[in-house]
Amino acid sequence: MKEIELPRDFLLGSATAATQIEGGDKNSNWYHWSLKGKIEGGASSLTAADHWNRVEEDIALMKEMNQEIYRMSLEWSRIEPDESVWSDEGIEHYRRELTLLKEAGIEPLVTLHHFSHPQWFEDKGAWASTESVGFFIRFTSKVVETLGELIGEYCTINEPNVFVNDTYMDGKYPPGHKDDIRSYFKASRNLILAHLEAYELIHRMREERGWKGTRVGMAIHLAWFEKGDGNPLAGLSLKLMDYSFHSLFLKGMVEGRLSFPVGSGHPRGKGLFCDFIGINYYSRHLIHSSLNPATLFGEVRVEENLPDDRLNDLGWEIYPEGLYRTVGKTFEKYGLPVYITENGIPDARDAKRARFIYDHMAQIRKLLDEGVDVRRYYHWSLLDNLEWNDGYGPRFGLIEVDYETQERRIRESGRFYGELCSGKKITQ
Ligand code: NOJ
Repeated sequence: MKEIELPRDFLLGSATAATQIEGGDKNSNWYHWSLKGKIEGGASSLTAADHWNRVEEDIALMKEMNQEIYRMSLEWSRIEPDESVWSDEGIEHYRRELTLLKEAGIEPLVTLHHFSHPQWFEDKGAWASTESVGFFIRFTSKVVETLGELIGEYCTINEPNVFVNDTYMDGKYPPGHKDDIRSYFKASRNLILAHLEAYELIHRMREERGWKGTRVGMAIHLAWFEKGDGNPLAGLSLKLMDYSFHSLFLKGMVEGRLSFPVGSGHPRGKGLFCDFIGINYYSRHLIHSSLNPATLFGEVRVEENLPDDRLNDLGWEIYPEGLYRTVGKTFEKYGLPVYITENGIPDARDAKRARFIYDHMAQIRKLLDEGVDVRRYYHWSLLDNLEWNDGYGPRFGLIEVDYETQERRIRESGRFYGELCSGKKITQ
């Protein structure tokens, strides 16, 4: 197959999130959620991949795979376990981790909210409460104050769209509401406002301290949407989905423009509130018309009768062209640098991952050839981890984890990716 070559300055690495890999934290809302038996197989978030105790080993593995960049999240509940109580232990742990990354020559991109937060914040209504923005900004300020000299690049919020959908519509994330459209919009608004304030705050604080090289963005999940049936309502469902899942957040977080059914506008004046747009891309969604008055949003389905090599272990369609289309469309609209902040595949047998990487790199090559400013690729994920409510079954890792012993082993596809990271070239 054709060789694909990427520019030397196109950076490659991997991504993780604290709750999914660290283990050991009893103050996060996901620990409480797992106590309620809400994770597949009755699993607990307490074990995860024991990354908390294996930071050194995992960074050495990143190095072994020649990774240049790493997207990680700071667990808010490790830093502020109780309201207004700051944990030196948590802060020092992350200081050590960030220092080790620096020493290994791996540039961190730090996510401040990746689906999980402290239980005390959950108890206060989390993102559906207007207080949430202030709490998050106080946490952000603490991070910049205590760890800021080690972090130049921030991703404020991960997948606000998936978060509100899975929390308030599908009931999969704590506190598990179903079809609660009021909370969906309330939380969306607060997440957008939190991003806008955090963007300004991080820039201001870093500027005051004379720190250069600040980049602040967010990571949005962009699926490629297509009409799923010929019903005229499908077109309407698709439009509503595209608005409520994609453009509401892009307009809000990139342009600072609220576009809610009521109460829209530019709360912080016109401008750009992202230095890059982080795109998490996984799949194509076919939107079928829905008559459910609670949602109106339509129903997401996968094309029927797809051959096995077009499906991943969770039954999502493997659709590399969607990466080209979503990134291309976003760049055309905003003209901002794009980081692919996540892309990956659950593939326990490691039979499809190398091909998946190759096919997605081919789409990136195409984007670059067309002048799209896509600069980075963070593969999801560095290692097998807790796939939220789906538990430990799905295997997204370039590194396999044996959860009994917590032993790590770089998969063949991980080695393949490692060669790409160092040589910026691959052939399948
Ligand atoms: C996006 C989320 O950010 C991440 O936490 C999750 O594990 C992956 N997608 C795979 O579903």
